[in-house]
Amino acid sequence: MIIVNKIQDVREHVKAWRTEGQRVGFVPTMGYLHEGHQSLIKRASEENDYVVVSIFVNPMQFGEKEDFENYPVNLERDSQLCEMAGADIIFQPDAKEIYHNGFSTYVDMNGLTDSLCGKSRPGHFRGVCTVVLKLFHIVNPDRAYFGKKDAQQLAVIHQMVNDLNMDIEIVGCETIREEDGLAKSSRNVRLSPEERNTAVILPKALSLAQRMIAGGNRNPKVIIAAVETLIQAEISVTLDYVEIVDAANLEPVLRIESSVLVAVAVFIGNIRLIDNFIYDIENNSF
Ligand code: PAJ
Repeated sequence: MIIVNKIQDVREHVKAWRTEGQRVGFVPTMGYLHEGHQSLIKRASEENDYVVVSIFVNPMQFGEKEDFENYPVNLERDSQLCEMAGADIIFQPDAKEIYHNGFSTYVDMNGLTDSLCGKSRPGHFRGVCTVVLKLFHIVNPDRAYFGKKDAQQLAVIHQMVNDLNMDIEIVGCETIREEDGLAKSSRNVRLSPEERNTAVILPKALSLAQRMIAGGNRNPKVIIAAVETLIQAEISVTLDYVEIVDAANLEPVLRIESSVLVAVAVFIGNIRLIDNFIYDIENNSF
């Protein structure tokens, strides 16, 4: 496995592979990798001949008051985890390599980005779409892998690839969790031991919603209120949102009559954590 920092270098490697007819999988990340990222890389290496992983903490997708400056970094550990999972190249550019002086072209999306994290983090998906589009052009993969933990991000990337006629297959991968159910996240390391204990409220909140839906409750208002009450009982947790939206267009629903995404976002201290599940109405499953 090699680490490259320059756009030109990734391009040369991928071009050589593709002229030999080899398939290239791509896993974009912001680093500080964990088993969630590794599961994406493993899947990419099973389904492709070569795998590129990018590590770039994209300033454009962070709001002014967000944790860009404190985002954890550990390239040495990341490269070991990448190699173990089957990556061939890590592309780790600096911000100047990605955003040259005078950079002024952005990808904006209507609709899908209006709710959930798009609503509480204005400009976030503009940053995500812009950098992912750039990375797609740089890496030129056959397939790209994204986690369902960031369900709205996955939906937004699908939409962008369709809207802009990009010949890349987007693969959604299951959420990897800790033993107590907390979704793995690079941000979990920033939780103090007490905060880490409190964070289990996220999977608890989702499992309450699942029990209510499994028990036949089809009223989002009632389910949201119950989940909000559960979360707000934890004094050290600040609720950002609990939403139940149509799984396809991410618009709020008045009754659960189609497959829905149930999504939760909270702050513990100043650390923002998200989680979700999809209720598949046809198979009556989560
Ligand atoms: P990052 O948060 O590093 O996540 C990189 C990829 O790993 C995303 O597709 C995310 O959904 C996935 N992932 C994170 N935690 C996971 C878990 N517990 N189980 C499964 N997959 C998980 O998402 C980003 O970076 C950025 O927005 C990026 C797409 C790289 C653009 O900058």
